[in-house]
Amino acid sequence: MRVGILGSGLMGGKLGTLFARAGHDVVFSYARTKGKLARLAREAGPNARAGSPAEAAEGADAVLLAVHWSRVDDVLVQAGSLAGTVVVTCSLPMNADDTDLVIAHRTSGAEALARKRPKARVVSAFGTVPSEVLFGVYERRRRKLRPSLLYCGDDKRARNAAVRLIEDVGFDPVDAGPLRMARNLEPFTLLIAQLAYEGKGGPELAYRFERL
Ligand SMILES: NC(=O)c1ccc[n+]([C@@H]2O[C@H](COP(=O)([O-])OP(=O)(O)OC[C@H]3O[C@@H](n4cnc5c(N)ncnc54)[C@H](OP(=O)(O)O)[C@@H]3O)[C@@H](O)[C@H]2O)c1
Repeated sequence: MRVGILGSGLMGGKLGTLFARAGHDVVFSYARTKGKLARLAREAGPNARAGSPAEAAEGADAVLLAVHWSRVDDVLVQAGSLAGTVVVTCSLPMNADDTDLVIAHRTSGAEALARKRPKARVVSAFGTVPSEVLFGVYERRRRKLRPSLLYCGDDKRARNAAVRLIEDVGFDPVDAGPLRMARNLEPFTLLIAQLAYEGKGGPELAYRFERL
């Protein structure tokens, strides 16, 4: 697939690199400097390049939204309408100091995103995994027993794209149901993040809780 990365930080940088290594064409976009995007593209190999959010979105089969919640509107304006495009979001709706969710229970960040871009095909995936474990999971991807990773969404094409990307990175995709399940997934994700960053060995421990 052609995959545009909207937000090339810890998540976007690592996932984009792994998508490229798995054979997808990747465009890294949205960082504070063009130099960082160029470096990521160089390190990810021949399938990757750097560009603007508009270039990342243009002709993409899927885009990965991986920015802080406070940057979502800005990156969406730069990416354009995303009509018909699969949008895989791992962005948690966190407040500015990352202590709590700003949207929860009655709706979710994923559903808010779908309302912001009603013609996009939104699917929620990858949010529940700490970025620190991604390279290790990818290296062990050929093993029979893979760690599971939850996704949810209403759009068939988006769900299929998420399944393929999740498998290509080395996880076993677990269907959590329609997009409104993000109301449950996002608080769960916050719990995973707290577990991951409190105490030694947290990231490794956290992703093993997925199936539970
Ligand atoms: N990190 C994780 O383990 C993890 C796990 C699950 C879900 N998530 C979610 O994934 C999303 C991204 O998290 P992350 O940890 O990848 O964040 P991050 O490392 O801070 O990445 C965000 C990206 O946005 C860019 N950015 C920020 N402000 C910008 C601006 N004014 N102009 C242009 N680019 C700007 C950053 O640029 P620079 O690279 O130049 O700083 C960076 O590339 C968040 O919603 C988070 O909740 C993260």
